[in-house]
Order: sequence, then C-alpha cells, then structure tokens
Amino acid sequence: MGWNQRYVDRDFPWDLGAPSPVVQALADRALGGPGRVVVPGCGRGWDVEALAGKGHHVVGLDIAPAALALARARIAARDLPGAVELIEGDVLLGEGTEPDGGDGFDGWAEHTCFCALDPQQWPAYVEAAWRRLKPGGALFGAFLHFEGGGPPFGTHPAELRRLFTPRFEIELLEERGTFSKRDVPQLGAIFRRRAHPAG
Ligand SMILES: C[S@@+](CC[C@H](N)C(=O)[O-])C[C@H]1O[C@@H](n2cnc3c(N)ncnc32)[C@H](O)[C@@H]1O
Repeated sequence: MGWNQRYVDRDFPWDLGAPSPVVQALADRALGGPGRVVVPGCGRGWDVEALAGKGHHVVGLDIAPAALALARARIAARDLPGAVELIEGDVLLGEGTEPDGGDGFDGWAEHTCFCALDPQQWPAYVEAAWRRLKPGGALFGAFLHFEGGGPPFGTHPAELRRLFTPRFEIELLEERGTFSKRDVPQLGAIFRRRAHPAG
C-alpha cells in the first residue's frame, strides 16, 4: 500500500504526534540562526511546525497529499514566528525545493524519511540534499540505527560515513536514545555540506 493511502486510512504507526526530540535538540547548533530549512518526507509536519516555531522559514516536502492536508489543517491554526510552505513532491527529485536565485537552503532536517527509502535510493537522497543546501548548510536530525529491515530500513555509522563523507563533513554522529515508535536506537547527526564534493 502506498504512503498516501496510509494517511487516508490514518494508519501511520511511525508518527510521534510530536516533533522529533533529536531534530529539535540539534537545530540550534546545526543552523546557528534563523534560516530556510527543508523537512523531507515531513508527514504530518510536526518538525515543520516546531522549526517554524523557532523562527525558521520551513519547507515541508512529501509525496503524500493526504499527509500534507493533515499538516496544513493543524499548522494553519497556529500563529508561528516563522513561515511554512507545504509542498507535494519527491525528495529524490528535489521537487518544490528549487533554491531561490540559486541561494539554497541553510538546513535539511531528517527524521524517518531516509529509512522510508530503499537503500538503493540513498545515494540519490545524499545528492538531493547536497544540491538543495548552501555550502556550509547542515543536514541534521536522526537516523534509525539497526541492520536490515524494509521499510523502515536501518543504517549504521560506517554506512552513513561512506554515503555522506564525499559531500558532507561529519560534524556530529552519535547515539541519541531510541526512536520510541519502533524501540530501536537512533543516531543524532549533523552533516555539514561541502562546497565541492571531496575526492
Ligand atoms: C515514515 S514516514 C515519516 C514522516 C515524518 N517524517 C514523521 O516523522 O512522522 C515517511 C514519510 O516520507 C514520505 N515519503 C516517502 N518517500 C518519499 C519521497 N520519495 N519523497 C517525498 N516524501 C516521501 C512518506 O509519504 C511519509 O510521509
């Protein structure tokens, strides 16, 4: 069954009903100050709402229009200091997140989007984030730490380093408690976008 139907059926066992504690804990360090942030695979938009609450201009991107409708209904009622855009599109294509005037985004907030993608798509995810971020911008958030699965697909630090190091500096990568919806460990990460791919 596709992602959109899961939201239509209100069958979203991955949904915390709250922002990711890891995303929120790392946001200030990753971003420095108010900026433009993408939340890929934003689902019902909990991290979108919380980052806009910190004053950021946040673009929530998802392929499931039903998820975005649920996010929109909740967020529209909030008076947030930052701005919110909710856009239907494929994260791997960067749809809806073309950088304004080539300027790019300051942040890319990951929470259970990477694990929703087939591992064969992970290099395209890395490439999409690199293309959308400014040099020095940060991909930050949480990655589920286990072997296998599908979906969610787990990962581990050596795999993340192999995938991201050519395009990002690994500023932080450490255990950060568990993802409560699956009771699996999660890794907190801040990956800093390189100006040019390494190697
Ligand atoms: C496991 S859910 C996580 C949702 C949200 N991040 C959260 O924490 O509740 C994965 C989300 O990614 C979206 N998604 C899956 N593949 C995608 C793609 N290629 N582009 C954009 N969104 C995608 C799904 O529709 C779903 O909302």
